[in-house]
Amino acid sequence: MIDLLLKNASRSGVEIDKLFDLITFLVGFWFLLAEAVLFGLVFRFHRSRSPRALYVSGEEKHQKRWIAVPHVLVLLCDVVIIAGTMLVWSHVKQQLPPADAVVRIGSQQWAWVFTLPGPDGVFDTPDDIARVNELHVRSGAVYHFELTAQDVIHCFSVPAFRLKQDAVPGRLIKGWFAALEPGRYDIQCAEMCGIGHGLMAASLYVEEKEQHARWLQENAAPPRELVAFRFPNP
Ligand code: CUA
Repeated sequence: MIDLLLKNASRSGVEIDKLFDLITFLVGFWFLLAEAVLFGLVFRFHRSRSPRALYVSGEEKHQKRWIAVPHVLVLLCDVVIIAGTMLVWSHVKQQLPPADAVVRIGSQQWAWVFTLPGPDGVFDTPDDIARVNELHVRSGAVYHFELTAQDVIHCFSVPAFRLKQDAVPGRLIKGWFAALEPGRYDIQCAEMCGIGHGLMAASLYVEEKEQHARWLQENAAPPRELVAFRFPNP
């Protein structure tokens, strides 16, 4: 249902959306029922039809049932929602599927720094690619991310991926995502982190395999301009 507002674009998002649907359906059902009963009673016992108010103490058995039965049914719905939530939590947050690639995500007031290991697939080598507010990934691949913050708590949020994870200074938090299709998606900090919080946005580019490999090659080359620059002799 939430797909109507913002189409899901990640593997784990499918499950999150199903959970949303479950909660919306169960809560929506009780909301509509309760409102229907409320307005039905307002109409039925309008002053014109029922000028004298009844005094109901609610102590008799048949009266108590009006509270006890819906109470138990609502509790049962809660159990269903909690069970669904735990299942999705364990799939999405706790069991990381095997990684095709790893990305380091650093956050600070007020920018994101994304580091990819470059074509050699190893971090801390000269071909590492670090970008500010710009993340390039391959469509379909499972990415593990290592998330941290330099100053205050930030939150890595990709609405189209249904992904949200706090970044905490001093901690390295791991998680995963896998994009379903190529495109550009919004990244937005989702934790109040100071005056520039609203500006702490970034772009996530999901590319096809060949396109992404080309991007890695093009951006992994060490900058040559400095080497090529010659000072003129005096
Ligand atoms: Cu970083 Cu809000």
